[in-house]
Amino acid sequence: MIGQSGHILVIDDYEINRRKLAIGLKKQGYRVSLAENGRQALDMLRAETFDAVLLDIIMPEMDGYEVLSKVKCDKSLRDIPVIVISALDDMESMVKCIEMGAEDYLSKPVEPVLLKARLAASLRKKKLRDLEVAYLQQEVMLRQNEKLATLGRLSAGLAHELNNPAAATQRGTEQLRSAFFRLRQALFSISDLKLSNLQLASLLELKLFAQEYAKQPHDLDALDRSDLEDEIETWLDDLDIDNAWESVPTLVSLGYGSDRLDELSNTFTIDQLPSVLSSVSSTYTICSLLEEMSQGAERIVEIVNALKSYSFLDQAPIQSIDVRQGLDSTLVMFRSRLKAGVVVHRDYAEDLPLIQAHGSELNQVWTNMIDNAIDAMDGRGEITLRTRQEDSWVVVEIEDIGPGIPEDLQLKIFDPFFTTKPLGEGTGLGLNISHNIIVHKHKGKITILSQPGKTCFQIKLPINLRE
Ligand SMILES: Nc1ncnc2c1ncn2[C@@H]1O[C@H](COP(=O)(O)OP(=O)(O)O)[C@@H](O)[C@H]1O
Ligand SMILES: [Mg+2]
Repeated sequence: MIGQSGHILVIDDYEINRRKLAIGLKKQGYRVSLAENGRQALDMLRAETFDAVLLDIIMPEMDGYEVLSKVKCDKSLRDIPVIVISALDDMESMVKCIEMGAEDYLSKPVEPVLLKARLAASLRKKKLRDLEVAYLQQEVMLRQNEKLATLGRLSAGLAHELNNPAAATQRGTEQLRSAFFRLRQALFSISDLKLSNLQLASLLELKLFAQEYAKQPHDLDALDRSDLEDEIETWLDDLDIDNAWESVPTLVSLGYGSDRLDELSNTFTIDQLPSVLSSVSSTYTICSLLEEMSQGAERIVEIVNALKSYSFLDQAPIQSIDVRQGLDSTLVMFRSRLKAGVVVHRDYAEDLPLIQAHGSELNQVWTNMIDNAIDAMDGRGEITLRTRQEDSWVVVEIEDIGPGIPEDLQLKIFDPFFTTKPLGEGTGLGLNISHNIIVHKHKGKITILSQPGKTCFQIKLPINLRE
């Protein structure tokens, strides 16, 4: 006979019963421990691992019912199958034990063949339950990993997006300090120059122009810029003005050339010009830095807001959601990958109703779908996002111009771990998770329309989840 494996605890106050059961069980190959009362049994159960318990009902002090109820109330013990053995041949107490969570029952005297069969069956069931629990735990972990991996990919892009404006703002403060210093110097010098009213008015006008000009970017290509710099330097050299070289690049950015300087030399004397040019150019520098920094700060705030709305920080799980906002904040997360070669068209219905939904989970769906669309097009192409209302549904479509999904794969792609991507790139969980979120959590639907050059995932969400 092939021996059974498993550690069994026999609880009975009557020694002869314990021994009889132990001999029978050992013969079948089980490891057996014995307890003569309820308290001892509970201590042993907490100290060692058991695969099943054989429990007598009638015992002094703590009876079998109490032991059973304590085992079932204890999270770490409740999964151990308990088979109740009682001399009582009354149905009622057996039924009571089963209702309290006993796995099975046997009546005394115990028939060895019956004990063997029932114990084996209980252990088989326990093994299956253990496997199921292990599987579910593993699956939860994998899903969590997938979410983290997606977030990891997104945050790499975001860090890049945040870095540019943050670095520009930081650089800006340094440059601002020195431009401010130059402006102060120039203003001191000007106050010594005794400018006429006409000259002062002209200086004011030049500065106002510089302020306005700073509000818009004026890109010059490198060649034109270097030509203009040469032109201005020559002009200044010709007049022997050699202390204005610092202002040259800024004057070029301001759109100055020799014509403009000729005009200025009609209004200001050669002694006055360096300070005038320096005050105008540092005014321009200060204004354009402020402009750049305020745009950078705006960009940072925009990204942080999108992040907040993407993850629905500090909010309850079910919300009134505008799916357009969810799509847009998801797009912000993808900005750096999209900028690399994907054009996004947004075709949103204007009067789209809000829906009752789990906001951050829907964003996880949009993330998976957009991620897949970018992957399908190898990072280059077009994505169209559409939203509209259809009766009591809100419809969202995510369409790409990639190679499409062959018909025989269209059902499989929702299976867990199905992926056509190389090892390490795809987990095959994105669509499975999305399907759970849409179909199970939101009672919605997902449909695929796909052909080479056009793949559309259509998602229908009920406007009112409770209905
Ligand atoms: N827009 C799409 N175009 C083409 N194939 C797609 C698209 N979206 C998903 N798929 C296919 O479905 C598979 C499963 O997608 P998914 O569950 O997100 O896992 P993964 O992206 O990790 O492979 C992908 O490997 C791909 O073959
Ligand atoms: Mg995917």
